[in-house]
Amino acid sequence: MTKQSKEELERQLAYLEKAKTLVAEKKEKLGRNLKACVVTFGCQMNAKDSEKLSGILQEAGFELTESEEADFVIYNTCTVRDNANQHVYGRLGVLNGHKKKNPEMKIALCGCMMQEPSVIEKIKKSYRFVDLVFGTHNLYRFPEYLCQVMEADGMIIDIWQETDRIVEDLPASRKYSFKSGVNIMFGCNNFCTYCIVPYVRGRERSREPKEIIREMEELAAAGVKEVMLLGQNVNSYGKNLEEPFTFAQLLQEAEKVEGIERIRFMTPHPKDFSEDVLDVIASSKKICKHIHLPLQSGSTEILKKMNRRYTKEQFLDLALHIREVLPDAAITTDIIVGFPGETDADVDDTIDVVRKVHFDNAFTFIYSPRTGTPAASMEQVGDEDAHRNFNRLLKAVQEEARGRVKLVEGKILPALVEEVNESQAGFVTGRLENNTLVHFPGDPSLVGQIVNVHLTDYQGFYYIGKQV
Ligand code: 5AD
Ligand code: SF4
Repeated sequence: MTKQSKEELERQLAYLEKAKTLVAEKKEKLGRNLKACVVTFGCQMNAKDSEKLSGILQEAGFELTESEEADFVIYNTCTVRDNANQHVYGRLGVLNGHKKKNPEMKIALCGCMMQEPSVIEKIKKSYRFVDLVFGTHNLYRFPEYLCQVMEADGMIIDIWQETDRIVEDLPASRKYSFKSGVNIMFGCNNFCTYCIVPYVRGRERSREPKEIIREMEELAAAGVKEVMLLGQNVNSYGKNLEEPFTFAQLLQEAEKVEGIERIRFMTPHPKDFSEDVLDVIASSKKICKHIHLPLQSGSTEILKKMNRRYTKEQFLDLALHIREVLPDAAITTDIIVGFPGETDADVDDTIDVVRKVHFDNAFTFIYSPRTGTPAASMEQVGDEDAHRNFNRLLKAVQEEARGRVKLVEGKILPALVEEVNESQAGFVTGRLENNTLVHFPGDPSLVGQIVNVHLTDYQGFYYIGKQV
């Protein structure tokens, strides 16, 4: 940890102590507990950030709740597509209703959406009841902001454009006791033309390998069995460290952490996927045979306009090579339909890739123009065409996924039990190494354990099984 990061950590820990006093005083004054609710939108990165927010709130003395009728509510927002933004605005209206009933209530907003200047303008103008707004770069200052918001009225806004600092080690409250995300890098340097992430998460910064391994060891000691290594472009991990370290090397070090039984990672970029990483996965006992490899489009021309820096053929070569080296691995993907200039023939190319790779699953999105990105000022395609092509693609994706999931029918495979099944009494839900879900009879004490399950009933995208 750099000297600056250490100083900042100490500063925030001091604020956390102060927050404890403020919360205790308020509880005393009101003669009741104070409740806090953290609501997460978006990706795994945000989920991880939310655990940090929850940890700080809990440490400060708040009781965490899922209900938004609380004394402190924070929305950790996403802005990757516009519908995520609209959703936040909609829910803010409801929150205002709660606030009118509870004069003690404070409302905070943070995360990717807050890095957009137009959003801040809108909040200042139309959402005056919000008490605190901060962005992605200064999340570690939350203890400080929490003190400010508890001591003063009026809207506090602090948005940074960049940071070179990585401040970890503040308390975190993990959503699951047995699995956790671990940040390995922040930001992104790729500038795909549709994507807002480089603007809201800043330039690429990697954490030191020894810090990552230390966190993994601590998690293992706390009972965590599965970690997900998180970064926007994990293949370029370590390139900007003082002593460069590759992602393959990091995976090898991660493998050595005792107690961690499963390792996942998210997200690699096809243009940087190197052979050494595949070799490490192939010989690993812990790295899950599941690769999420975002395609975005199967048309070379669209890929060029997206600035993805690979062609249809290069993607196919890579994916089919992965199928050869790791025959049991699931390959999943992200695809965007309706990118500016996309024709039916371009979507035919995308479907061709889906058919040839046989993706195990694909997240399909309709292109959403993001202010400030190059693609937003390109000529847009009509909604109707985009929806028609989306449906064509979805059909192909679902057929291929069903075919892949069926391949393990009748096998006995280990599953990490993640939760009690809400919709079927007496059942629990586990996840196979390849990410497929299996529901089977079992009692709640199995949650967090890895057990062998006989995959008896194939149900399309998941299984019903039996513990053996
Ligand atoms: N419109 C639609 N989908 C997008 N994604 C990223 N930016 C956009 C956008 N502007 C998708 C990509 C990415 C996933 C996380 O979200 O497929 O991989
Ligand atoms: Fe995650 Fe990107 Fe959404 Fe931010 S904008 S929460 S990085 S998906």
